[in-house]
Amino acid sequence: MLKQKKNSPHLNKAVVMCFVMVAMTLFGLKISGKGGGAVLSATSLVQRAGLRKLTKPFCQSWSATDANNRSLQPFDQWHTHHPHWIVTSESEEEFCVEPAGKSPIIRDMMLLYANQFLSSCKLVHTRYQWGSGWSADFWNINLGLVHGLYYRVPCIITNWEENDPHIGFERTHPWNYAANKKDYGQENQTSLVCEAGDTTCYFLPYHGCGPIDELKNDSSIKLLQYEEGNKGGDVSIWTDEGWSAYSFVSRKQLWFRRAVFDYKEMFKRENNWSEKSDCTVMHVRRADAIFERHYYPVAFYVEMIPEEKLNDPNHYVFLLTDDSSAIEEAHEFFPNIKWAYFNRPRHNITSSGWEDHTPSGDPALEVIAIMSAFDLVQDCSTLIHGPTGFMNYIYAYMLRSGQHINLTKYDMGSTASANRMNAVPLNESVPLLMKILEEMRINKTAAQKFSEAN
Ligand SMILES: *[C@@H]1O[C@H](CO)[C@@H](O)[C@H](O)[C@H]1NC(C)=O
Ligand SMILES: *[C@@H]1O[C@H](CO)[C@@H](O)[C@H](O)[C@H]1NC(C)=O
Ligand SMILES: *[C@@H]1O[C@H](CO)[C@@H](O)[C@H](O)[C@H]1NC(C)=O
Ligand SMILES: *[C@@H]1O[C@H](CO)[C@@H](O)[C@H](O)[C@H]1NC(C)=O
Ligand SMILES: *[C@@H]1O[C@H](CO)[C@@H](O)[C@H](O)[C@H]1NC(C)=O
Ligand SMILES: *[C@@H]1O[C@H](CO)[C@@H](O)[C@H](O)[C@H]1NC(C)=O
Ligand SMILES: *[C@@H]1O[C@H](CO)[C@@H](O)[C@H](O)[C@H]1NC(C)=O
Ligand SMILES: *[C@@H]1O[C@H](CO)[C@@H](O)[C@H](O)[C@H]1NC(C)=O
Repeated sequence: MLKQKKNSPHLNKAVVMCFVMVAMTLFGLKISGKGGGAVLSATSLVQRAGLRKLTKPFCQSWSATDANNRSLQPFDQWHTHHPHWIVTSESEEEFCVEPAGKSPIIRDMMLLYANQFLSSCKLVHTRYQWGSGWSADFWNINLGLVHGLYYRVPCIITNWEENDPHIGFERTHPWNYAANKKDYGQENQTSLVCEAGDTTCYFLPYHGCGPIDELKNDSSIKLLQYEEGNKGGDVSIWTDEGWSAYSFVSRKQLWFRRAVFDYKEMFKRENNWSEKSDCTVMHVRRADAIFERHYYPVAFYVEMIPEEKLNDPNHYVFLLTDDSSAIEEAHEFFPNIKWAYFNRPRHNITSSGWEDHTPSGDPALEVIAIMSAFDLVQDCSTLIHGPTGFMNYIYAYMLRSGQHINLTKYDMGSTASANRMNAVPLNESVPLLMKILEEMRINKTAAQKFSEAN
């Protein structure tokens, strides 16, 4: 459960709860379990009924063109202020929404909502996000939100601090999933997904205080910067606190939701996804990981797949990787495994350089692929991973979906095979990988010759 600071000068728990009640009155909410009411369905029901009056589950029609309109839609405006309403189904024609049942996650999301949107903006906690990968980025954001709640002031994430002497050059750029790295510092940032250059390019607004530039220019507003420490608890994604903050800040905008839906549908068609009996998620992290971690052959990950799954002809391996050579390796050495993966541009071995998360040159496409992966992994019963933070997110989605009772996770990075590779210095990791692959080719040829001769 999220904690607030005791004896806060600003607010106390009762006041926060009071905010929630005010919010619910303002926006016509009613805490209830699963609606029970008939599902209304109409083209522009949201507009016709008047957004604020809805208390029962409803569906709204959408179309593929919604994916192209990257502005906040009427539904987004409504959903922003209804944090406990969740999308329960999506189809080609419509999606449906209903109030979630009571749960610690929904409770925390409402507390975060109340703090972020209903507190005064005269005092704002700003936290700059030192970007890295998905997991580090959201650790920063989640911690900022939870700190804000602890101190009862809204939190705004800043990653665009052009003239701030406290922040080194590397930090003066948009969120690393909102622009191409080569555009950082350029005047003409053609790849910037939206002007804010942050998570709100894709996800719903998470505070109601307006643009940070305007807050900075307003001398009556006090910005609490560089608030550190671990106040408010552990926000790792395994905890309810971390998951609540992440869920709150990653609620999809409509255009993005539709784009993710379309991307998943395309993937499912291309990979005959509905024909699988079961699947294993395999996360092969390479590219810039080489600056601090080793690469491992795909074969090491395959070794971890439970035998009965390998013997099941309709078992798929959903391969998540940032390296195109891992896909080539998968097909070359394991032609009998049913591989499924996104058809998208990737780096090739070490071609990327440090922290370039947009090999496609299209940051939105990268985030669409990531969120699609998070949805699709929920269909699988096993995860095989190496040393990455991203795998925590993959597994959290698998766990929280509750789809598989016997969910299992295997850490390839702690096997004897991996440890043997870890023993060489990092700069020798790629040559060693190449050497092992070459040896596997020789062994494969020898095995083929042997079976032909017999
Ligand atoms: C995008 O949607 C908004 C809100 O519905 C609408 O006002 C705007 O005209 C749309 N833009 C385009 C390019 O379709
Ligand atoms: C920005 O970049 C785009 C694409 O490279 C180019 O077409 C445009 O002219 C540039 N604009 C400015 C102001 O440099
Ligand atoms: C804030 O102030 C700066 C410097 O005075 C100015 O250049 C900038 O346009 C202002 N920003 C906003 C959003 O008003
Ligand atoms: C999907 O199924 C079709 C028809 O059976 C087949 O032609 C195609 O190769 C399959 N695709 C994949 C990726 O397995
Ligand atoms: C990746 O690099 C390897 C080795 O340089 C090369 O053989 C392979 O064709 C490349 N793959 C792609 C997709 O560019
Ligand atoms: C889960 O594992 C247990 C113990 O191995 C087994 O008895 C049970 O049938 C499994 N359940 C499912 C749904 O696979
Ligand atoms: C790796 O670095 C070590 C020490 O700096 C050096 O001796 C070795 O030759 C390097 N190996 C490769 C493959 O570059
Ligand atoms: C190749 O085969 C030899 C002999 O069976 C074995 O010792 C070696 O580990 C194999 N190498 C690889 C990379 O699988």
